[in-house]
Order: sequence, then C-alpha cells, then structure tokens
Amino acid sequence: SAERTLILVKPDGVARGLSGTILARVEAKGYSLVDLKLVHATREILEAHYAGHVGKPFYEPLVEFMLSGPVLAAVFEGERVIEGFRSLAGSTEPTTAAPGTIRGDLGRDWGLKVQQNLVHGSDSPESAEKEISIWFS
Ligand code: CMP
Repeated sequence: SAERTLILVKPDGVARGLSGTILARVEAKGYSLVDLKLVHATREILEAHYAGHVGKPFYEPLVEFMLSGPVLAAVFEGERVIEGFRSLAGSTEPTTAAPGTIRGDLGRDWGLKVQQNLVHGSDSPESAEKEISIWFS
C-alpha cells in the first residue's frame, strides 16, 4: 500500500521563491500531493519535530533558522515515497549534494551555523506519521 511522507520547504526555499519549483520536482517524479499549507512554525512545533536533535550543537541555530520565516509543509504519497524523496533531496550539505538533486542543484552553504538545505523529508514510516500529525494536527 502507498506510503506517505512529510516534506517541508524550509524558510530558505520559501524566501528564495523555490517552493513551486521544489513541489514541481516532487510531482514530476510521480508522487501525489495530498495536503499542503504555508505555516509560520512555532517553537513548540519545532521542539516536537526536532526532538531527536536536542543537545546537538546545531539544534538552537536550526530552531532559529526554522523560525525565521514561513515553511511550506506538504504530504506526498506513493510507493516508497520516503526513500524516493530523500534520494531526490540529496545529502544534507548542499555544497556537496549531488547535482540532479534538489539540494545539489538549488542550494549552497551561506556561511551560517546551520545547513540551510532547502527541504526536509521524513526518514521512516514511523517518523512520517509522527511528523504529519505535528504539522497537520
Ligand atoms: P534535516 O535533515 O531536515 O534535519 C536536521 C537539520 O539540521 C538538517 O536538515 C540540517 O538543516 C541541520 N543539520 C544537520 N546536520 C548539521 C550540521 N552538522 N551542522 C549544521 N546543521 C546541520
């Protein structure tokens, strides 16, 4: 049965006007958009979403970055969409993410303490269901 994932276009992607391009790339791969909203995240949402990163050196800069502007939250569906989107997104660091990926084609390091890497995608079916409930409560 078809899997679902939570995708975020982070504040850097929204601010740079890349929301439409990013959604189009995910749709073009063949996944179906099932829910979508523009949200200005709260600290509570981010504490729940990034609970696994508490205590890491980039945690506070990450939360500040995610609070810096609106985020586009989307739910996509399809066979193996979790893996498929992570492959499409590319590796965490946009400077070295493979060309052809969203991060590799559209992102770079801007010299800040956090990787501004345009997108987030859930990493497992369990985190997808948890994250969908956080962003679309
Ligand atoms: P994401 O995978 O969506 O969730 C964790 C985020 O933390 C990640 O994207 C990056 O934006 C950021 N991140 C992860 N590792 C580092 C790091 N080593 N230095 C700075 N930011 C990081």
